[in-house]
Amino acid sequence: MAKKILLSGIQPSGKPHIGNYFGMMKQMVDFQDDYDVYAFIVDYHALKSVQDAKSMKGNIIAVLLDFLAIGLDPKKALLYKQSDISEHTELAWIFDTITTMPYLMRAHAFKDAEAKNKEIDVGSFNYPMLMAADILLYDPDIIPVGADQKQHIEIARDTAEKFNRIYGDTFKLPEAMIMKEVAVVPGTDGRKMSKSYNNTIPLFAEYEEIKKCVMSIVTDSGEGIPKNVYAIHNLLRPASELLPLYESKIGKYKELKELLIEDLEKFIAPLRERRKEFEKDIPKALTILKAGGEKAKKIASAKMEEVRGKIGVNVY
Ligand code: ADP
Ligand code: TRP
Repeated sequence: MAKKILLSGIQPSGKPHIGNYFGMMKQMVDFQDDYDVYAFIVDYHALKSVQDAKSMKGNIIAVLLDFLAIGLDPKKALLYKQSDISEHTELAWIFDTITTMPYLMRAHAFKDAEAKNKEIDVGSFNYPMLMAADILLYDPDIIPVGADQKQHIEIARDTAEKFNRIYGDTFKLPEAMIMKEVAVVPGTDGRKMSKSYNNTIPLFAEYEEIKKCVMSIVTDSGEGIPKNVYAIHNLLRPASELLPLYESKIGKYKELKELLIEDLEKFIAPLRERRKEFEKDIPKALTILKAGGEKAKKIASAKMEEVRGKIGVNVY
């Protein structure tokens, strides 16, 4: 029986952090034996925040090395970047033509920008359509993401349904996979950990950086257990070990933070070492990305042929 397809993407918009890892990247590795895994770098999405060629190149290579270092195996999983497959942007346009402005205006990202009186660019407004194309081109079953992406997956499902209704059955409806315990990893300031909030613990941080990040975790707490320190610590150790420890050290925030630093170091050090190995041969890593793109292109272009047939533009 064919394996189910598990697919997800990440923006090359900065250093991945432990929120990205536990929320999404880890699932790609954990499931690569049992699913056909498609992991991709959404560089065209990142254009809305990275507008400098040198940073874009550096970020793409960084995410590629990160995926390899956490154990994504190119023999099992497909690793590619969005801009290598022009079908993504092509399909996004077709989706634009069946989607209304009021529908996209209900997206959280748009509403947030509006509430802050930010002038939103067309690309950001349209972001969910490109994401729907990223997904639907490959007929995936499951999309592992953090909770912040839930609405985007719903939009992809709605778009698939709408297209299927108008043009006949074409796209499969995917399911989001949101792991409860790691749906929203908090950052050092208690908000969602995010590259755009400057509140992250980078996944490949050096020891000194881990120390600095942990020491900066905000620790106001009503119950004596520092909520944010505990939540991050809980990613590494189960509550059954952690709760007695935290209860025995009520008020001793510094000691608890020191323990967290040690646990993070134990978890990150081997990843850091693996990453350094991959860093020694960037051309080889790029060959993997390119080959992944070629395979993905075949799948995407077959799907686009089907779409062109459905909408009636393939007259030859
Ligand atoms: P960021 O907000 O840091 O820019 P991205 O938007 O690139 O992160 O997210 C990449 C993936 O990581 C998505 O699946 C997203 O849901 C997940 N993710 C990001 N931040 C967190 C978090 N704090 N907790 C859990 N998952 C997260
Ligand atoms: N929007 C996602 C994020 O910001 C990234 C993304 C783009 C994605 N296309 C995707 C995730 C397709 C899953 C599937 O994190």
